[in-house]
Amino acid sequence: MYTLAPSILTADFANLQSEIEKLKAGGVDFLHVDVMDGLFVPNISIGIPVVKALSKITDMTLDVHLMIDRPERYIKQFAEAGSDYLTIHCEATEDPAEVVKLIKAHGVKAAVSVKPATPIETVFPYLDLLDMVLIMSVEPGFGGQSFIESCFEKIAPLKKEIERRGLNTLIEIDGGVKKDNIKRIVDEGCNVVVVGSAIFNGDPTELAKEFIKLA
Ligand code: DX5
Ligand code: ZN
Repeated sequence: MYTLAPSILTADFANLQSEIEKLKAGGVDFLHVDVMDGLFVPNISIGIPVVKALSKITDMTLDVHLMIDRPERYIKQFAEAGSDYLTIHCEATEDPAEVVKLIKAHGVKAAVSVKPATPIETVFPYLDLLDMVLIMSVEPGFGGQSFIESCFEKIAPLKKEIERRGLNTLIEIDGGVKKDNIKRIVDEGCNVVVVGSAIFNGDPTELAKEFIKLA
């Protein structure tokens, strides 16, 4: 069992509401929202007003992935906009544990993400604080890239550490997920799987149904 988290990065931004309805019809209830600042990553996407607008039109869980520098500056605004999960990057701030505490103080679930080159053990010192860990399986910044195979190796040690401590932290993976690798990803131990282009480059309803059945 896993949760499919479609990323709207490849959706039609001029028709977001209908794109979300298509996902809903496919059985989706977890939406991944990619926020990019042009600084932490070499791309700019969407931000607070769009999260706010989405939270008004859907009751899906809003999983907001902050690819922004010094995310502590905007936690309050993203929390008030209606985020259910806020994911920060450990590489983007000096003290990730403090930012995680700030997120939780706003009543939002907290996650920390690691880029492909960052060892998974980096999050272990504050693992107990986290609701979810996000393993990036592409360099953050763009949809439609290929899955970096070495990222598979981060899943098992993270799962092992979560179990050793008796936690129920979720493991999420993001980037390059396709029909041909999702089964292995879930078998390795991921609970939440982000899929962007592989859902929006076709019929989102049918593709979401297929992805949900696959793993
Ligand atoms: C990349 C984003 C991902 C990405 C996923 O920076 O965090 O969520 O859009 O898209 P695909 O599935 O196309 O790799
Ligand atoms: Zn993402």
